[in-house]
Formats: sequence, structure tokens, C-alpha cells
Amino acid sequence: MRVVKEAARFEYTRLSGPAGETDDGGDVIAGLSGAQKTLPCRYFYDDRGSALFEKICELDEYYPSRTERGILERAAPEIARLTGPSELVELGSGNAQKTRLLLDAHAQRSHPLRFLPIDVSEGMLKASARELLSLYEDLHIQGFSGTYEQAFAALPPRSSASRMLMFLGGTIGNFDARERDVFLESATSAMAPGEYFLIGADLHKDKDILEAAYNDSQGVTAEFNLNMLRHLNRRFGANFVLDRFAHHAFYNIDRHWIEMHLRSLGDQSVVFKDLGFEVTFKAEETIRTEISGKFDLAALTAEFAAKGWEKVAAWTDDRGWFAVVLFRLRPDRIVTGQ
Ligand SMILES: C[S@@+](CC[C@H](N)C(=O)[O-])C[C@H]1O[C@@H](n2cnc3c(N)ncnc32)[C@H](O)[C@@H]1O
Repeated sequence: MRVVKEAARFEYTRLSGPAGETDDGGDVIAGLSGAQKTLPCRYFYDDRGSALFEKICELDEYYPSRTERGILERAAPEIARLTGPSELVELGSGNAQKTRLLLDAHAQRSHPLRFLPIDVSEGMLKASARELLSLYEDLHIQGFSGTYEQAFAALPPRSSASRMLMFLGGTIGNFDARERDVFLESATSAMAPGEYFLIGADLHKDKDILEAAYNDSQGVTAEFNLNMLRHLNRRFGANFVLDRFAHHAFYNIDRHWIEMHLRSLGDQSVVFKDLGFEVTFKAEETIRTEISGKFDLAALTAEFAAKGWEKVAAWTDDRGWFAVVLFRLRPDRIVTGQ
């Protein structure tokens, strides 16, 4: 763990290398050793992957980012009013474009501006912080490059009366139900009673709309998916040949999630030199690289309620495709950790 002071108003703590806590590659070996091979989706996000994700957000087919932005444009002033002065802790902050809407709303009310972004993509964390500093002269940024879990354990004492955790972009859908439960438990433990949690969640909708969003006509999502292999080659000395795999994404209607896979185009084996690990693939065998859950708002609200979060307000778009929900940790909740 190393603190880097970039500027008077910006420092960040490097909690791990760019791929997250398990730099020993144990999670890669475990994921590729199962019956259904999987890889953690955070390995999408090296510098190139983060740039490709920005491109995805601009695609016609990729409605989530644009829809969430539209909701926040309307809701941000109300959110700042409801929470009062509150420092913003953002999980998976990425380019923090939508965060600006909240910073603007707080600035309008003359609230102090403090932002604590958390992201595995160190390059994106730094680039977005520099951009924000140039836009907000009173903003202080204390970032964390590492995983959510690492950052929860490293958060500094509050400098404001209250703190709001933010998790936008529908990223909460990247967990299955069990992982979400573990995640919510640790997120809750990092917060104090009366504090806030703002969630952006993608909602149930027509299969065709969903599948188009993850199979764009320009092939940017395919490039993003395949880039994970390039990242692993660099990071762990692996020898994936990218054109021996193909992007495959579909909506699993029973699980209410999009699955993103990389399909092996033939029998092949891949060696991870730095990990002393080799994996073989049969033709058509896949690696599942991401799930992206689509939620029923009432069910998601109930999951939060079970951890002590009461819904303060929820906003959706006209089509009911995406929701932004503001929760507050019940003041009577027994604190299990700080
Ligand atoms: C789907 S993008 C969303 C970015 C941004 N919040 C938005 O709404 O546009 C997910 C972001 O989370 C980061 N990320 C993914 N897994 C992570 C993890 N386990 N810990 C910390 N950051 C993670 C990625 O680097 C990426 O910036």
C-alpha cells in the first residue's frame, strides 16, 4: 500500500497492482480450473479496456449509461438536497462523468466537495481525477486504486458530516446473488447509520434489447471482451492468441443476466508462464468473462433492506429500463465494523 500525492488537492492510495488484490493470479487459476471456465470481470480494465468501455458507453445499442445519465440529470439536485453535505465515495468510478452531476448539485448548495473514487484501473483513476480537479477548484480527491474490498478496509475517517457510497453503471449486476450478499455485507460494514448508498441498476427488459446492447454492430464489445486475454498475456506472461477466441454474449432468461463468454475456436492450450499454469480448451468451449444482472426493483430493494438499508427515493426513465435508488442505513442499525 503506497500513498501517491499527485497535487495539493489529489492523492491516491495504491492498494494493489492494476488487476486487483490477487496479483498472484490465484483467482485466474481457480476460474480456469472449473467445469465452466470463468475469469473475474475486473481483468477487463487495463488502460485499453477502460478506454474501450468508454467507447461502449457511446454506442447506440448500449442504453444503460445514457439512460442512467438522463435519470441523474433530473435527480441529482434532489439527491444533494436529501443527503445534505456528504462526501462521495464511488465504487468503480471509471471516468466519473456521471459523478459530475452530483458534484454540480452539491456545489450549487455550497456543500464542501470531497470525492473518494475507487477503481482497479489506476490509469483511469488518475485521468478522471485530473479532469475533475480542472473543473472544480474547491474539490479534494482522495482515490484508491484497488478492489472494492480492499478499499472498504482502507477508507479514511470522514471529513464531512456524512458519506454517500455510490455504485453506478449497473455494475452491481456483475455479482451473482451470493457475491452480492458478501459485497453488500462489507459495504454496509464500511458505512455508519444514517449514511447513504446510491445505486444504479439495470432493470428487466426485452431480450432483444439486452442482447443488442452486448453485441453491438461495430464490434466494440467484442474487442473489449477479447482485450481481457491481452491483459492476461501481459500481466501473467500468458500466450493467448486473440483470434483463436470469439466473443459470445446472450441473455440467460432464467438467471436474469447477460452472460459474456469467449469461445475457443479450436482445441488449444494456453500457458501462463509467470503462474506455472497451463489450461486446455476444447473447440467451442467457453470462458465466462462477465455476468450482468438485470433487476426487479422491488426485489433489489428487499435485498438492501435485509442489510439495514431503507429506500429514500428511486428514479427511473420513462421506459422503466434503468433505476437509480437512494438508500439510507437505518439509524437503529447495529454497527458491526467501522
Ligand atoms: C462498468 S464500469 C462502470 C464505470 C462507471 N461507474 C460508469 O458508470 O460509467 C466498471 C468500473 O469498475 C471498475 N472495477 C471493476 N471491477 C472492480 C473491482 N473489483 N474493484 C474496483 N473497481 C472495479 C472498472 O475498472 C470500471 O471502471
